[in-house]
Amino acid sequence: MPRKLLLGNWKMYKAPSEARALALALAEKLRQPFAPDAIAVFPPFVSIAAVREALASTGIEVGGQTLHWEGEGAFTGEISGGFLADAGCRYVLIGHSERRQYFGETDETVNRRLKAALAARLTAVVCVGERLTERDAGETEQLVERQLRGALANIDAQDLGRIVVAYEPVWAIGTGRVATPEQAQAVHKHLRTLLGALYGRGGADVSIVYGGSVKADNAKGLMAQPDIDGALVGGASLDAAGFAAIAGAF
Ligand code: PGA
Repeated sequence: MPRKLLLGNWKMYKAPSEARALALALAEKLRQPFAPDAIAVFPPFVSIAAVREALASTGIEVGGQTLHWEGEGAFTGEISGGFLADAGCRYVLIGHSERRQYFGETDETVNRRLKAALAARLTAVVCVGERLTERDAGETEQLVERQLRGALANIDAQDLGRIVVAYEPVWAIGTGRVATPEQAQAVHKHLRTLLGALYGRGGADVSIVYGGSVKADNAKGLMAQPDIDGALVGGASLDAAGFAAIAGAF
């Protein structure tokens, strides 16, 4: 069975002092046992240490928002998977649409980053999703399939336990325009079938989470879908009460 995951992408919000305050508020609102099987938040790199400290012994995990594919080296400004692991991260996001759109991320670099994340023993959340023009052209399934196949090139079935797929339609991110549960379910089902075709039974256990304007008031309908195994939440993860309310919808 895929694990149910609640993930909070803080994007470029929350400097260390603010991040610590948000983490402490989350620790207050989210007590174990959680309704999801796991909860993780993804602060900016410089805020990871403060968040780790504030969340110690809460069971809420921490992740990075991207990583470089090399372990170390003369790559000014970059952060490796090993560094994230050493800083106490268990997770990392890879291929978020904002990375693809503004920072030149491609299916090939997503694949390189995924291999590096796995080598660092991190759980990688691989993001895929179509733009509105692609949806309108009827290309959604083809596009997310290309992105997922590219991400998983030369990845062994034995690593699937540390891979999560996030379906995030670009037109739903930060727009308040959430995919309907049926729209999301249809794409999740397609991705699940693809994972099965690529990996057999092991593929069926990969968690596929939905992201794009998830809020407390729409989470229940999404989580009720058979192939939606959780949520990757942006804006609403910056509010402790709102994020806790989403956990309550699992
Ligand atoms: P949103 O962002 O919830 O603010 O739409 C989701 C994401 O970018 O992961």
